Amino acid sequence: MKFIIEKDYDKMSRSAADIFAEHIEQNPSCVLGLATGSTPEGLYACLVKDCSDGKISFSDVTTFNLDEYCDLPVENEQSYRYFMNFNLFDHVDIAKNRTNLPCGINADDETCKNYEQAIEDEGGIDIQLLGIGHNGHIGFNEPSDSFSVITNLVDLKDSTIEANSRFFDDISDVPKRAITMGIGTIMKARKVVVVANGQGKAEIVKKAFFGPVVPEVPASVLQLHPDVTVVLDDEAASLIPKD
Ligand code: PGA
Repeated sequence: MKFIIEKDYDKMSRSAADIFAEHIEQNPSCVLGLATGSTPEGLYACLVKDCSDGKISFSDVTTFNLDEYCDLPVENEQSYRYFMNFNLFDHVDIAKNRTNLPCGINADDETCKNYEQAIEDEGGIDIQLLGIGHNGHIGFNEPSDSFSVITNLVDLKDSTIEANSRFFDDISDVPKRAITMGIGTIMKARKVVVVANGQGKAEIVKKAFFGPVVPEVPASVLQLHPDVTVVLDDEAASLIPKD
C-alpha cells in the first residue's frame, strides 16, 4: 500500500484528484469507480475545475458508483444519484448514460447480478475511489463475519444510520437498507484510491491498514490488493506507525 499524507483537506483532495486526472488523461475512455460521502466532495470539485480548465475531458469516461440507498427516489436530495449529479456529473462533459449507480428501487438479487454484469461488460473498473466509514465499511459493506463477494443488498448498521442522519431532517428518515458493490467487486478494480480526513478517521485508518485483515473491519481487505493508494490529511494519518 502506498500512503500520501497531506497537510489539510484541500491538499488531500487535490492530491487524490491528481491521481484521477492523470488516469483520465492517459486513458480517456477509462472506467471509474466512484464514491459518495463528505470526503470526496473536494476531490470532485478539483476534477470539475480540471475539466472546465480544459485539462481533462470526461467525454469518453464511464463510471460506476459503489452504492445507493434502497427505496429513495433519485430526485431525493439524499440519493446518491442526486449527490453525483450535484457534485460532478452536472458540471463535466460526461455522457449521463455512461454514469451508472445501482438502482435501489425495488432492488432484488437480479438487480445486483445485473449491476455486476454491467461492470464486467465495460471491462471492469480501472480505478476505484473509496471513502472509509468510522466502522471500517467500504461502500455499504458493513462489519460482518465474512467478506461479501458481489453486489448485494445490506441492512445498514445503527452506527452508519446515525452517521448519515446528519444529512436528513430526522434519523427516522434515513433508509435502513442499501445496495452496494461487494468486497469482491471492489477488489477486482485494477487500482484503488482511498481518501480519509480528520481526527475522527484516525483510529479506523490505523485499524484498517495496520491491523489484521478481518471482515469485522471490511476496509482491512485492501491490504491484500496489489495497487492501493491511501490519501490522508495529517489528522487522519496521526495514529499510523511512522516508519
Ligand atoms: P464520509 O463517509 O466521507 O462522509 O466520512 C465515508 C463512508 O462512509 O464511506
